[in-house]
Amino acid sequence: MSPAVRPAAHSAAPSGAPSAADLLDFARRAAADTALVASLPLDPQGRTWIRLEGPGGGEAWLIGWPPGSGTGWHDHGGSHGAFAAAAGQLTEQSLAAQLPTEGWKLLELADGVDRRRELAGGQGRAFGPHHVHQVFNASAQLHAVSVHAYYPPLPMMRRYSRSGQVLRLEEVEWPQEWS
Ligand SMILES: [Fe+2]
Repeated sequence: MSPAVRPAAHSAAPSGAPSAADLLDFARRAAADTALVASLPLDPQGRTWIRLEGPGGGEAWLIGWPPGSGTGWHDHGGSHGAFAAAAGQLTEQSLAAQLPTEGWKLLELADGVDRRRELAGGQGRAFGPHHVHQVFNASAQLHAVSVHAYYPPLPMMRRYSRSGQVLRLEEVEWPQEWS
């Protein structure tokens, strides 16, 4: 364990809700749990997942990504979160812009808002409640495995399509669809 990782209680928000640092710490610790990661069944045809108990009443998932699989663009319904790579490499494309959460179907993005990062070998990132991204395994051969944590538990997710600089709201997903 990295000495930079703080105990969860040390960085909890005053309300007791897990902070972004807590969520990232949880994701990194779980990603480093080799027995947990090995317990995830892997399917070359599609993503697999196990629901975990998240920190402080949060929601967490261990997810397996076959080569070429990905999420598509989405948000997290106002929850903040974090994720960390446990095996293989994941690519995240995100938007460095705070989008309005309601009241639009089409949004033209400004130039220069795109960000891209690769995460492997325990690397992770935390994100805020307005984060919009897509995550995928760009490898042609290797599976990836990652851990994702959210607080509060995802109330819903908005899914988007992207054409050039235009983002279109496609659908809203509700928790009962993920169980
Ligand atoms: Fe996400």
